[in-house]
Amino acid sequence: MLTPQIRESASRSVLCWLATADESGQPNVSPKEIFAVVDSTHIAIANIASPNSARNVMSNARVCVSFIDVFVQKGYKVTGIARNVTQQDVEFSRWVEPLRAMAGPRFPIHSVVLVQAVAVEPILAPSYRLYAAETAEHSQVASAMQTYGVKPLRDV
Ligand SMILES: Cc1cc2nc3c(=O)[nH]c(=O)nc-3n(C[C@H](O)[C@H](O)[C@H](O)COP(=O)(O)O)c2cc1C
Repeated sequence: MLTPQIRESASRSVLCWLATADESGQPNVSPKEIFAVVDSTHIAIANIASPNSARNVMSNARVCVSFIDVFVQKGYKVTGIARNVTQQDVEFSRWVEPLRAMAGPRFPIHSVVLVQAVAVEPILAPSYRLYAAETAEHSQVASAMQTYGVKPLRDV
C-alpha cells in the first residue's frame, strides 16, 4: 500500500498534516514535521506537542494524513486507522526509533501516533491535469521557487 515511491515522497515533504476528529466528529488538523513511512502499511508521527491529535485518536481512530513536496507540487493523501502508542507500550521503541533519529535529543517524543493505511490517493497540483501538455515536474519546481521567492543554493 505504501510503496517505495510514496515513502520517497514523504521523505521529501517538509511536513505532513494530520487530520483527526473527536467523538462528536469535530475535525482537527495540525502540521507535523517529524513523521515517517516506516513500512508498507504504517506511518509513524511524533507526538511532541500534539495533545489534541493524541487524545482524538484514542476515542476516534479514523484519521487522514496528507503531505506534499511543495516544489514538485505532488504528494499523497492517506486515510487510515490510528492508535496512540505510548512509552508504556512494548512496541514503542520500534516505532519511535526513526522519529528520534529525525527529532534529535532536544525534542522529546511523548507518544507515537501510528497510522495504519487503509487507502492512498495521489495529490497533484491542478496544472498537472488541466495543462498536462505544458506541465512537467521541472517546470512546476521552477514556478514554485519563483512564487515562494526561493533560489537554488548554487545561485546564492
Ligand atoms: C512547522 C511545524 C512543525 C511541527 N511539527 C510537529 C511534530 O512533528 N510533532 C508535534 O507533535 N507537533 C508539531 N508541531 C506543533 C503542532 O502542530 C502544534 O503544537 C499543534 O497546535 C498541535 O495541535 P494538536 O494537538 O491539535 O495536534 C509542529 C508545528 C509546526 C508549525
